[in-house]
Amino acid sequence: MTTDLTEAAIAILRANDRGDHTVPTSSGLYPAQWNWDSCLVALGFAEFDPDRAWTEIETLFDGQWPDGMVPHILFHGDDSSYFPNAAIWQAGPGQRSSGITQPPVAATIIRHLFERFGVQRSRPHIRLLAPKLLAWHRWFYTARDPDGTGLVAILHPWESGMDNSPVWDAALAAVEPGPSVAHLRRDTAFADAAVRPTAAEYDRYINLVLAFRAEGYRADRLYGMAPFRVADVGFNAMLQRANRDLRFLLDMIDDTAGVAEVDRMISNTRAALEARWDQAEGFYLSVDTRTGQAIRQPGIGGLLPLYADPMTASRHPALITRLERWLDQVEIAVPSFEPGRPEFEPRRYWRGPIWLVVNWMLIDGLKRNGRPDLARRIRRDSLAVVARSGFREYFDPTTGEGLGGTDFSWTAAMVLLLAGLKD
Ligand code: GLC
Repeated sequence: MTTDLTEAAIAILRANDRGDHTVPTSSGLYPAQWNWDSCLVALGFAEFDPDRAWTEIETLFDGQWPDGMVPHILFHGDDSSYFPNAAIWQAGPGQRSSGITQPPVAATIIRHLFERFGVQRSRPHIRLLAPKLLAWHRWFYTARDPDGTGLVAILHPWESGMDNSPVWDAALAAVEPGPSVAHLRRDTAFADAAVRPTAAEYDRYINLVLAFRAEGYRADRLYGMAPFRVADVGFNAMLQRANRDLRFLLDMIDDTAGVAEVDRMISNTRAALEARWDQAEGFYLSVDTRTGQAIRQPGIGGLLPLYADPMTASRHPALITRLERWLDQVEIAVPSFEPGRPEFEPRRYWRGPIWLVVNWMLIDGLKRNGRPDLARRIRRDSLAVVARSGFREYFDPTTGEGLGGTDFSWTAAMVLLLAGLKD
């Protein structure tokens, strides 16, 4: 289906295309390749340029570290408009990347490409990528869950992809701020400071980077020393969904040992995620694994078990009721944090605004959980808000105002994907 909106989306992806990878926006705000952005952007390319979709993912995996980690940023060109850039990260000789990771959605996206393009065209790509995916997932379960709890930890809010969610507030407050870096920030030159993370948060983000840099980003050291360590429900839900999709891909290429290994990941994480359901709260709660404290702030990640597992809604009808209550309090679906809470800020980044990539995950999860009606509402809202406010980075759920970066790649990709979906 081609419309003015989908044509505009294709033009944005073409404009942000740097040949073998896509930048999130051409404005200078994010002049590099981001991990989950790239994967989600491939879903958009899949709608009009299959080869380019595969290239996007293959470039990302060319940046995989020898230990299996796939960095959250790969710096390919001039990164001077971004802080912290490659020169600050100092990830290692010849290594132009960050030293942390991001939500592992790649296996899910690769399965989607397979379903879109079929066995013939996909098999060579899957043969190339599946072992790399397995190495990344294995890295998660060794480096980030050394005690075998079934839940992997993030060591930096940036790893979550939901940088300044209130879910991290208490854990981040416990991190030493270090010297102020407010004057080094570049993001506020491209977007209003009122819709970005605060200076106090930025100082801590950078101090964490410097602490990890001092350890040479060695996976065997970071878990123990990290001043920030959270087993996040949203992150683990994305990993669990990716585990299930990775199992499918390994099975397709007859890797029986790989399938058995991933089966263990799936069953451990299934049990551990389920143990994070809090009956009294009617929500899944993440946990600060340094203090052992459950985190009670209801961020959108707590809804993502719907995307991880098609049986979530039947086990916990309260979760969908909760989502419906969120939607009753806003104009447009879906806020990234529970409206009505003191921490809810409808214009500030991950403290309330709508992000289309998470909307897609919920749409997908709700369909699999027997709620196509709710999925339809979110799909329609997502397309309508872009039609009204442009291809912005995120949107105010109370007014529909577009916020942050402009002509955003993953917003364009989601429009192409959602426009092509059936209700
Ligand atoms: C911000 C977002 C993150 C995204 C990145 C690039 O840091 O919080 O999720 O990957 O921008 O778009």
